[in-house]
Order: sequence, then C-alpha cells, then structure tokens
Amino acid sequence: MKSVLLVLGLIAVPAVVGYLQPLKPHAKSQVVSLPQHMKVGLDLCPTCIQFTGEAINELLNIVLNLGVVGSCGKVCSLLEQKTGSEALGLVCDLLCDYVGIDEFVKFIQKADLDPFYFCELVKVCPIFENGDAEITELSVTPASGPQGQKTIAFSYTSKNGTGTGEMIVVVETVDGLPIETGFIHDQQPAGSYPSQFNLKAEVDPNCDPTQGFCEQWLPGNYTVRVDVCYGECGSAHPHSKIYDRKQTQFIITPQ
Ligand SMILES: *[C@@H]1O[C@H](CO)[C@@H](O)[C@H](O)[C@H]1NC(C)=O
Ligand SMILES: *[C@@H]1O[C@H](CO)[C@@H](O)[C@H](O)[C@H]1NC(C)=O
Repeated sequence: MKSVLLVLGLIAVPAVVGYLQPLKPHAKSQVVSLPQHMKVGLDLCPTCIQFTGEAINELLNIVLNLGVVGSCGKVCSLLEQKTGSEALGLVCDLLCDYVGIDEFVKFIQKADLDPFYFCELVKVCPIFENGDAEITELSVTPASGPQGQKTIAFSYTSKNGTGTGEMIVVVETVDGLPIETGFIHDQQPAGSYPSQFNLKAEVDPNCDPTQGFCEQWLPGNYTVRVDVCYGECGSAHPHSKIYDRKQTQFIITPQ
C-alpha cells in the first residue's frame, strides 16, 4: 500500500536539512507552505509545483462542476473560496492569466493530478530530457539502536544535470503503512548534491489515534528507500523518469 506524499516545499540544495515527520496514513496530501516571495520568472516553477500539489484536486472539481468555465477570475475565486487560501487564489490567477483560461482548463484535465506535468504544460517549468542522477551515498545513523532521532544522509551525483523533479524518501516500517515524504528539486546543473534529514523514529506525542494510525516504531528492521526522479516519481506522464533508487536498512532495538 502506498502512503500519502507530503511535499515539504523545500528546494533541495546541498546540505538541506529537513524533517521526515511520520505521516498518518490517509492524511490529506498537503503542501506545508507557499514561498513568501513569489519571484516571478525566477522560480515560478517550484511555486507552481507547490501550488498544484495543493490545488489541482480542487481545481479539477471546479472545472468539472462549472461546465462552461468562463474566466480565470471565476475559477480562481472559486478556488480561493473553497480552500480559504488567498495565496492559492493569487497563484491561480498568475498561472491562469499566463496561459489563458482555455489552455489552463485543458491542462488541468490533461495533467491527471501530476503537478510536475501540469507546470511543464503551462510552461513555467523547463523540460530537460537528458538529465541523470546516481545516488552515491545512503546511510542511517545510528544504524542500530533504540527509538529516537536518526539521521538519514544521502548524496547523488549528476553528470548532465537534472530536470525538475522530486526526491522521495520512504521508510518501510514493521507495524504499519510506509512513511513517505518528498522534496521538490529545481532543474540543476551537473554536480554532487548531498542532503541530510532527521527522522524522528519515536512515537509522535501529538499523534491522535482517533485520526488514524500512529506509528509505534517497534523493534525490528526498517528499510529506507530513496528515489531521485525527473518529474513525479513513478509517473507515467511524459518528462518523467526515476533517475536512481537506493535502499538501506536500520534496526530499532528494544528499549
Ligand atoms: C547526457 O547528455 C548527452 C547529450 O548532451 C546525451 O547524449 C546523454 O544521453 C545524456 N545522458 C543521459 C543519462 O541522458
Ligand atoms: C535484520 O536484518 C538482518 C539482515 O537482513 C538480520 O540478520 C536480522 O536478524 C534482522 N533483525 C531483526 C530484528 O529482524
């Protein structure tokens, strides 16, 4: 079973430190934050991906329910109403005005909920088919020990550079659904990209069992898998590819 992807909205740059928070299965896919400054023309691409990750479901509903859509203003104000987010309404207006309402609606339907594909269709994310990445390091420290914070270090190297895409980190747990999180990366030049994440391998004191499963981090073997992808990992759409995948293990010992 596949768990929900949480796009943390971090752009992967060397030595990004993020948090892998245990997710409740069936938690709503969400984007934690939109960038405070929308640097139009500079990094509209990651803004678009974050926006789309949060809004495309609702946008698709709006478009299907409206039938005859009319204008960007109409679609985007409905989006703002339904999500209660002024920021989403703003980015919607920006992207819709950029391509025009007819194309916008067409692309929402064509993108099939894939934010990367959508942002390439509206031409705010570049297409780069010759990218590559090889994961050169993946480790968990401590590799064996009781519950507690772990550090996941990984590094990948690209010879040609990478296209816009995502990195996914999945932890296969012993008692439940996998925990999964993702990070968006911009198109990047050739080079080495080391990253480090903290994994809180301990029961989340704020987890509410009535709202879903709470990961218990029981003693046993855990597998950590990292995918570095062009576009959405596992997508069947054009301009998508899993560049590389690696996995490693760690052990949680009894307290
Ligand atoms: C890297 O780029 C060259 C052309 O510049 C291309 O021939 C090659 O296939 C690319 N490598 C990959 C892995 O796509
Ligand atoms: C974890 O895996 C290793 C090797 O795959 C195995 O030797 C060990 O017994 C496993 N430990 C537990 C607690 O399952």
